[in-house]
Amino acid sequence: MKTKILNTTKNDILQAAAIIRSGGLVAFPTETVYGLGADAFNSEAVGNVYKAKGRPSDNPMIVHICRASDLGQLTPRLSPDIVTLIENFWPGPLTMVLKKKPEVPDRTTGGLDTVAVRMPDSRAALDLIAAADCPIAAPSANISGGPSPTRSKDVIADMDGRIEAVICGDDCRVGIESTVVDMTGEMPTILRPGIITAENIEAALGKEVRYDETLLKGSLHGVLDPSSGAADAPEGFKPKSPGMKYKHYSPKAEMTVIEGNRDNVKKEIERLKGLNEKLGLKVGVILFEEKAFIEAAHDFFARLRDLDNEGVDLILAGALSDTDGVGFAVMNRMLKSAGYNIARV
Ligand code: TXA
Ligand code: MG
Repeated sequence: MKTKILNTTKNDILQAAAIIRSGGLVAFPTETVYGLGADAFNSEAVGNVYKAKGRPSDNPMIVHICRASDLGQLTPRLSPDIVTLIENFWPGPLTMVLKKKPEVPDRTTGGLDTVAVRMPDSRAALDLIAAADCPIAAPSANISGGPSPTRSKDVIADMDGRIEAVICGDDCRVGIESTVVDMTGEMPTILRPGIITAENIEAALGKEVRYDETLLKGSLHGVLDPSSGAADAPEGFKPKSPGMKYKHYSPKAEMTVIEGNRDNVKKEIERLKGLNEKLGLKVGVILFEEKAFIEAAHDFFARLRDLDNEGVDLILAGALSDTDGVGFAVMNRMLKSAGYNIARV
């Protein structure tokens, strides 16, 4: 298949919208990462998204809308809390898991009785959804298992020849995927951390928000501290045992996260770099400024891809110290990228 390379002009957005309408696939920029879009109500098109990504078809997709009034097509009811979150965070990097209407295809939601919805904060994405005149189901536009794409060249590297078109826009402002919060239970529950933090959501709702348990067990605190409950965490959450089940966002290179006091981390990275280079390996380092969490979110996936393109054999990454903010969201990705391969210093 020849993939059309489009830009964000009105004419190109209309072309892309026509492709979506006719059941084709279009990658497009959002403020978080690039998405790979299909008409959310077209089961066959959604099935082709799974094929293009090489993704297991039980993994549900996020449905993107361009106006809150489109929610009525997707969910039967909106609680006051949901409305509050819409008012505070949409358009923006917050995805809400809601009860689904039966009309939403099972393919889109992986057979669940819930649907994940968000309104992206990107002109190109909003214009595309409006012109296509349908909600757009879109996972991140990468081959399944690899780092999410935050630049148009990353999308082209993964998707050229596999989909009908790519809309090439600016680099993504946020750089990690949206926060996913489940609004179907008693208490709002964060399933995936992002740049909108638990604290932000608590402040908007005036009530407590919790993290899904597996998220905590798969965090730095969880994998390093047996008293946190990680002792009975699944195999793959233990350091040094990268269970394939949890391999996600993975670079081609081997990757190790170095955790500890910052000076020790720096020294250990230098030491390991020197050792490995003596053995003839090419080593890449990811070490962000201390507390520069927003920047780390913006750069992390792009750094992984650049290092892979440079052909490094080993990536050494310094852990960020943050237990529940944006740094925590970056660490969620970093640990998965490294297959929970952690060295503590
Ligand atoms: O920022 C983002 O969210 C990007 C851009 C393109 O919008 N999209 C994205 O999609 O990251 P994806 O497919 O890579 O991640 C969707 C996440 C997955 O972890 C999936 O399991 C979860 O959302 N999810 C989707 N529907 C769900 C549902 N009904 N219940 C629970 N989790 C759901
Ligand atoms: Mg993804």
